[in-house]
Amino acid sequence: MIVGVLKEARDGEKRVAATPATIEQVRTLGYEVLVDPGAGAAAGFADSAYEAAGARIGDAVAADVVLGVNAPGPAQLDAVRPEATVIALFAPAFDPAMVEDLGRRPFTALSMDAVPRISRAQSMDVLSSMANIAGYRAVVEAAHEFGRFFTGQVTAAGKVPPAKVLVAGAGVAGLAAIGTAGSLGAVVRATDPRPEVADQVRSLGGEYLSIASPEVEVSATGYAKEMGDDYKAREAELYAAQCREADIVITTALIPGRPAPVLLTAEMVADMKPGSVVVDMAAANGGNVVGSVKGGRTVTENGVTILGYTDLAGRLPAQASQLYGTNLVNLLKLMTPDKDGRLVLDWDDPVQRSITVVRDGESAWPPPPVQVSA
Ligand code: NAI
Repeated sequence: MIVGVLKEARDGEKRVAATPATIEQVRTLGYEVLVDPGAGAAAGFADSAYEAAGARIGDAVAADVVLGVNAPGPAQLDAVRPEATVIALFAPAFDPAMVEDLGRRPFTALSMDAVPRISRAQSMDVLSSMANIAGYRAVVEAAHEFGRFFTGQVTAAGKVPPAKVLVAGAGVAGLAAIGTAGSLGAVVRATDPRPEVADQVRSLGGEYLSIASPEVEVSATGYAKEMGDDYKAREAELYAAQCREADIVITTALIPGRPAPVLLTAEMVADMKPGSVVVDMAAANGGNVVGSVKGGRTVTENGVTILGYTDLAGRLPAQASQLYGTNLVNLLKLMTPDKDGRLVLDWDDPVQRSITVVRDGESAWPPPPVQVSA
């Protein structure tokens, strides 16, 4: 079979679904590879580099297995062959119109963002690989906006205090942000309603701020639940106090299946020092910060910069493409049991079932739930 690598249709997308290095791995599974002209240009991968890795340059949408980062554009979807399989981030849980559109098409559509979060599927977990990059980049963006050092210094010209960074939410993205800010020399604090993350925060050099509420309990699934009024009142007190002190706040809080919880009110932001920076990493999901703009940068009246960028992983396109491409290779390994260049969809495998939005033209969404445990 031929695996095709699409040129992304979405404006501003710099990532690509395969790099020359991941293409070599795809070829060892027995596939031929066809890459759209210029598909990797924005990520720094020239057509000649793909050719050197053994791919051909051509019309990738005509392949048997079509790989994309985002959902292909309408013209691309129209050009997919009926018996093909398209693998991309279709976001079926958030985009019912896309699910409906795919349901009318004859091919098979698999969505990488629906990989269940179980140990066996970690090597395919795009949400984790992208959140890790995004957490790192959130700190880089904050450092760029912040007009001072992160690290403290004692110099002949005077003493510079270290920057104080607060990270709200210590999941994959939050932990990456804690590690990155700490490595730049900042004093880092973090909070999360899941008390089990305390040791992870400390192991990265951060201070864990606990919220003393009877609602706090170790999560059975590894994910946060919507917290009640008691917790919300106590966390608001903590954020109000921390915002007065912090130079940088990075919020990453998400609750599966719900809009992002609002953590920072307009009053809290108004109480921050001029020159402070807030990065709202949940801006795409409704936002953790009042006043953040999805995809944008705003500066408040008191001089606080709020970043609501939704393309943080894409701002490191070569690395993000490499990790995404590796997640795809791991899926192809699973779906090519005989390494014979033939993709086989195993309907009894919970991983493959969970990501199937459409199978041979039949809608398969939503999949049955998979039991996730911490
Ligand atoms: P996420 O992206 O769903 O949420 C981000 C963070 O926000 C979480 O740590 C959550 O506890 C936190 N949060 C929710 N409400 C909050 C509030 N009011 N204030 C502050 N923080 C709040 O979570 P993510 O990063 O995807 O990971 C969550 C868990 O799942 C982790 O334990 C991780 O190790 C696990 N995981 C397991 C995987 C696997 O087994 N394949 C893959 C990825 C993550």
